[in-house]
Amino acid sequence: MSKIYQTNIFILKSNSEIYVPNQIMKIGIKRRLGHGNFGVVFEIENNNVIKIFKNSIYDNTLQGETSNIIPYTNENRELIFFNEIINKEDNKNYIIKVQAIGYITKTILDRFHTFVPNSNFIIIPLAYQFYNLYNFIKTDDYIFVIKIMQRLTDICLYLEKTYKKINLDLKLTNCVFKTPDKDINNMILIDFSLLKSIENNPIFNKRFFDSLNYYIWPVDNNYNLSHIHTYSICINGLELIFGRDEIKETLPDKNRIIYYLNKLKGYNKKIYEIFLKGLTEKMETEKLLELLNNFFI
Ligand SMILES: Nc1ncnc2c1ncn2[C@@H]1O[C@H](COP(=O)(O)OP(=O)(O)O)[C@@H](O)[C@H]1O
Ligand SMILES: [Mg+2]
Repeated sequence: MSKIYQTNIFILKSNSEIYVPNQIMKIGIKRRLGHGNFGVVFEIENNNVIKIFKNSIYDNTLQGETSNIIPYTNENRELIFFNEIINKEDNKNYIIKVQAIGYITKTILDRFHTFVPNSNFIIIPLAYQFYNLYNFIKTDDYIFVIKIMQRLTDICLYLEKTYKKINLDLKLTNCVFKTPDKDINNMILIDFSLLKSIENNPIFNKRFFDSLNYYIWPVDNNYNLSHIHTYSICINGLELIFGRDEIKETLPDKNRIIYYLNKLKGYNKKIYEIFLKGLTEKMETEKLLELLNNFFI
């Protein structure tokens, strides 16, 4: 018998009949599903999950995006984004559909973190984590890699065109499948903690956050924000070819990128050219999509 932990939440906004705005409601937490830098995610009833944010307290969380590339401690880009889109019609199926936004009203003790009352949360549908379905959906050829990269590219173009935003945290652990089948078009994005509006700050300059070495980001300065999607998508592709641990442990490192490119050159000329351009030229997402589509010609 599984134990359900009851707690109370206050709903601020909703697009689901289950959650009524401006009311306190009781929810049952079933199990912990995952965590990241910004929040902890628990499965709750009704096939949903709650993501409770670590440094985000109702009344203290910034309501607008700062011009910083990386959000301030009390800046929550995911909440800003979901607040903006929660009541909008969206049948594109590129990003997870937020069900409710609010704050918890009781302390929640997690293994590594104590969530104080008034910590913000979002409720989103329960989905299948990328690496939990990976062995089931993958095929042992480059077609699979290209198809995942194409899907990521479509998702990114949607963010860029519809919302004028770049996701600086584009990685496969931030992707889920809506249903447990092999259709790659079921893959959607869940984590919007590192979104950045394109207009305010077009230059992606690591000078401002030197200590942050993130494997999905280029080492060089002076990339435009609009080039980051292409770079990260290619790193995700490398991850599928060379393995997740290998890539996470060895990057970012320019020499290591050259090493991987040389290996690809020996494997397959077409694949090599896509990665060569995607990782060494500063490239818009549209251009990457063109290269990926050409793979099948
Ligand atoms: N809707 C969901 N269904 C299943 N697992 C999820 C869902 N949302 C998040 N997770 C799990 O929780 C982890 C952390 O969530 P995420 O939104 O990435 O938080 P963070 O911003 O802290 O990285 C994810 O990597 C994933 O394993
Ligand atoms: Mg994450």
